[in-house]
Amino acid sequence: MATFMPTILQLTDLHLMADPLVELKGARTRDIVKRVFEYVRQEINRRRWRFDQIVITGDLAHDELRETYLVLRELLGELNDSCLLLPGNHDDRGFMREVFPEQFTADDDFLNFSVEVGGWRLIGLDSHVKGEVPGELGARQLDWISRELASHADQPTVLFIHHPPFAVGSDWVDAIGLQDADALMSCLAASSQVKAICAGHVHQAFETEANGVRMMTTPSSSLQFTPQADQLCLDAVPPGFRVLQLGDDFQSEVVRLPE
Ligand SMILES: [Fe+2]
Repeated sequence: MATFMPTILQLTDLHLMADPLVELKGARTRDIVKRVFEYVRQEINRRRWRFDQIVITGDLAHDELRETYLVLRELLGELNDSCLLLPGNHDDRGFMREVFPEQFTADDDFLNFSVEVGGWRLIGLDSHVKGEVPGELGARQLDWISRELASHADQPTVLFIHHPPFAVGSDWVDAIGLQDADALMSCLAASSQVKAICAGHVHQAFETEANGVRMMTTPSSSLQFTPQADQLCLDAVPPGFRVLQLGDDFQSEVVRLPE
C-alpha cells in the first residue's frame, strides 16, 4: 500500500481574455474561469484533499496577449505555487516565460516538465506549433521524452499534453490533434510505466485505453464542445476539471461545477 496518495488536478483550455468584457462564442471566459478557480478552492477544503499539484494543459490565453498571462497569475493567486503550465495552440511561449519565470528558464526551447510527486512521475509535453492549430512534438522533444522515460523506468508515470495523441470520435477535432501521435506512441511502447495520458484541446470529457495506457481528455474550464459532433457545436454542460488520485493504481474523476 502506498502511504500517501498524491492528488493532482488537471485544468485545461481557459481561453482567458485580457479585456474582461470580451466574449468568446457569447461567453465571458474570464468570469467562467474565476468561478472554476473558486470551486477548486472550495473543493480542496470540502474534500480535504491532500492536494499536490495543478496541471493546466494549455490554451491559457485565447487572445495571446502578455496582459492575459498576468490576469491568469492574479486569478490563480496562491494556487500558482502548486501549478505547472503547458502551452496550447493559442498560447505564446515568450509571454509564458516572462510572466511565470519561476517555471521556465529563458533558454528552454520547449515548455515541458518532468517532476516526481509521491513516487509518481508527471511529464508535461509541449505540443505548441507557432501559428498552427494542430500540435506536434518534433524529433528533439520525442528524443527528450524517450530519455526521460528510460531514466525513470521504475516510476509509474502520467503524461500531460494539450493536443490528444488519440481520436475522440469527432472528425473536426481529430483532424487538429497531435500530428506526430504515432511517433509518441512508439516511444511509449518500450515504457510500460506510462499509466495514463491526460490531454485538453477538445473541450469535452473522453476516455479510452490502448496497450494498458488510459487516455483521456478533460472538460474545459470555460466553454464545452458537444462530443461526437461533426462540427464545432457548444454543449450546455457546466465547465469542469479532472482529479487524479495516484496511489497503487491510477484513479481519475471528472468534476463539473453545479448547474
Ligand atoms: Fe482550447
